[in-house]
Amino acid sequence: MVRRPRVAGTVRTLRQAVARFRGARESVALVPTMGALHEGHLSLVRVARRRSKRVVVSIFVNPAQFAPNEDLSSYPRTFDADLAALAKEKADLVWAPASVATMYPDGFSTRITPGGPALVGLEDAYRPHFFAGVATVVAKLLIQCLPDIVMFGEKDYQQLKVVTRMAHDLDLPVRVIGVPTVREPDGLAMSSRNVYLSPQERAAAPTLFRVLEDCSRKIAGGAPIASVMADGREAITRAGFQLDYLEARHAETLEPVASMTDGPVRLLVAARLGRTRLIDNVGVSLPARP
Ligand code: PAJ
Repeated sequence: MVRRPRVAGTVRTLRQAVARFRGARESVALVPTMGALHEGHLSLVRVARRRSKRVVVSIFVNPAQFAPNEDLSSYPRTFDADLAALAKEKADLVWAPASVATMYPDGFSTRITPGGPALVGLEDAYRPHFFAGVATVVAKLLIQCLPDIVMFGEKDYQQLKVVTRMAHDLDLPVRVIGVPTVREPDGLAMSSRNVYLSPQERAAAPTLFRVLEDCSRKIAGGAPIASVMADGREAITRAGFQLDYLEARHAETLEPVASMTDGPVRLLVAARLGRTRLIDNVGVSLPARP
């Protein structure tokens, strides 16, 4: 039987454990999660494992990033299975705040309001509260743990850019590492929320990635971005999704781009299938020059 990682439930015990790593001159990586761990999360842990002596995984379903109409109360919570999976991956420490009040004690009243890539009309337009909630909790997690590196998935591409910007703007002494999206065999990006999909919705869900790939290939081949995006939007709607957005953006700033000469391009999509909202994104790589 693999030994379960130690669990810290208070900031004090977390800091004591990290201080022991530091005392032994060991590097520390942090992998922030909301639990319900799947292969996507575990790939972040594996990359952290390769790059750092010690790996801390935080598990905290952060109320500050859910709107009142969102799925905070029904968000999947699978703590025992998460610990077992992290034991297999040889995570050293799990930071699981004992209660919401551990993270947000009575009287808590400070918020980080990110700009730049957090204000570009993508997720921010549909979840206006979201990035302030993410930035605030991620800043707290980084200050609580003070890791050398912190891992974020490209799956949540705008989030990755927002926390990278925030860490830079606030001089947080950490390197933000982006990790490629892990997908199901049929292309659907793994997500804790995929469990909400009915069998029919699950069958339709991979269309999102197929359309992204199709658009990416056409743009790389020289087709005009605007018409490719228009066709892509139509294909997604035809497949039964309610589309929030399908956009071609600058891969770093997330500002709109009109052509491939405007910079590295990323295609980002959000769409709803029944009550489940899915997001995904891909890069557009220019064909190698002859
Ligand atoms: P959560 O949705 O649990 O995701 C935790 C991390 O796993 C994020 O960096 C996310 O991008 C990454 N991830 C999720 N699915 C992935 C996949 N299929 N492939 C690769 N990486 C994937 O994102 C959050 O939690 C929260 O907003 C958090 C950052 C923890 C702040 O509360």
